[in-house]
Amino acid sequence: MARQQQNIVILISGVGSNMAAIAQTAARQAWFDRLGVCVAAVISNKPDAPGLKTARALGIDTHIVAHAGFDSREHFEAALVASIDSYAPALVVLAGFMRILTPAFVQHYAGRLINIHPSLLPAFPGLHTHQRAIDTGCRFAGATVHQVTAEVDHGPILAQAVVPVLPGDTAAALAARVGTQEHVIYPQAVRAFFERAA
Ligand code: GAR
Repeated sequence: MARQQQNIVILISGVGSNMAAIAQTAARQAWFDRLGVCVAAVISNKPDAPGLKTARALGIDTHIVAHAGFDSREHFEAALVASIDSYAPALVVLAGFMRILTPAFVQHYAGRLINIHPSLLPAFPGLHTHQRAIDTGCRFAGATVHQVTAEVDHGPILAQAVVPVLPGDTAAALAARVGTQEHVIYPQAVRAFFERAA
């Protein structure tokens, strides 16, 4: 019997480097042939997100659901859900998707919605994580892949990477160091999600 294809839909707002890391790892490791897993679509809430161009260059369907065009979070999310669900995704991946999601949205994708956050959660949820880690005097920083729950930047932890905070670090330097590790752990965590389910 033919194995059912399992679609991933990735949501972005910006550069999309994590999206690209996942899509390139999926291609390099032949996730479709091995696991039936396909990065089916990339959806951005920002029409000018550079990651859209990257996704197209990787041969992935792209869509824009611009939050600015809607009069409420609920109407925006209804359009977003319609776009996502047209791919019947097994997993929805937030990769630098910078919108707060309603509990109804999170519930709709319960168990199949994950995020990456640029800190060692539960430390530093929210914005400006690198500067806050430096200002706090942290010796270590990092990134966390987690299941998404109704509370922003919370939820069961799936993977973490730790990097040192070096003397004289700027937020940009630390972000680059963390970013390199994000591109390792996020593809690993996505693959592990499907291997667990197999
Ligand atoms: C990443 O560093 C990710 O951890 C962060 O946004 C960046 C997106 O970069 N996400 C959050 O802050 C979510 N709370 P990318 O667009 O190049 O993947």
